[in-house]
Amino acid sequence: MTITIRPRRDDDLPALGHVLVEQQPASGYPHRDPLPMPGADFVARAGALAAWTAEVDGEPVGHIAILPVRDPAASGEPELARLWMAGHDLPAERLGEVGVYFTATHVRGRGVGAALMRTALDELAARALAPCLDVIPTGTAVDYYRRSGWVEVGGTRPSWLAADAPDVIAMILPRD
Ligand SMILES: CC(C)(COP(=O)(O)OP(=O)(O)OC[C@H]1O[C@@H](n2cnc3c(N)ncnc32)[C@H](O)[C@@H]1OP(=O)(O)O)[C@@H](O)C(=O)NCCC(=O)NCCS
Repeated sequence: MTITIRPRRDDDLPALGHVLVEQQPASGYPHRDPLPMPGADFVARAGALAAWTAEVDGEPVGHIAILPVRDPAASGEPELARLWMAGHDLPAERLGEVGVYFTATHVRGRGVGAALMRTALDELAARALAPCLDVIPTGTAVDYYRRSGWVEVGGTRPSWLAADAPDVIAMILPRD
């Protein structure tokens, strides 16, 4: 199995939207009510700093993006940014969020997700942005993040969170 991570192209979006929707019933991700449809609209997040597609055998099977963190005073969703800023002890403009992160069910556990995460973290480091993310603690992702050095800095309920989902956990990857 050859895994290729490359910048996302617009013509990946329909396939990535299908992957997002395909894996959602089992993983619960994204925990949004309603689920943005088509899935491609959720993947093509406006304002992302960069985004990558994972390809296996020429097929898009996963995605990750890095996003700017808006100052809480200018944001409709200030709590996550406050938690990340306090955790890193840095202003919002020195932070970068990892998000829109998923892989197809049939490739899970074979290194595609880790390759995507490495690419995103390398780009955040190149931009001198401190890594942040949010995660729902019921999936397998939160344990993977903990094993990889991410630490929890608090919990909150953003407005987009589905009513039946538990609180979102804010995590940071501390600098060395
Ligand atoms: C999180 C996710 C992107 C990881 O992708 P992946 O292709 O499975 O990634 P990898 O194969 O590189 O595995 C990454 C880690 O997850 C673990 N993992 C993978 N599948 C797993 C499973 N079914 N159960 C438990 N752990 C699993 C691997 O053991 C690995 O951890 P390790 O490096 O400590 O051994 C993928 O599981 C996913 O899309 N989950 C649903 C969406 C989601 O929750 N996204 C994150 C939102 S914050």
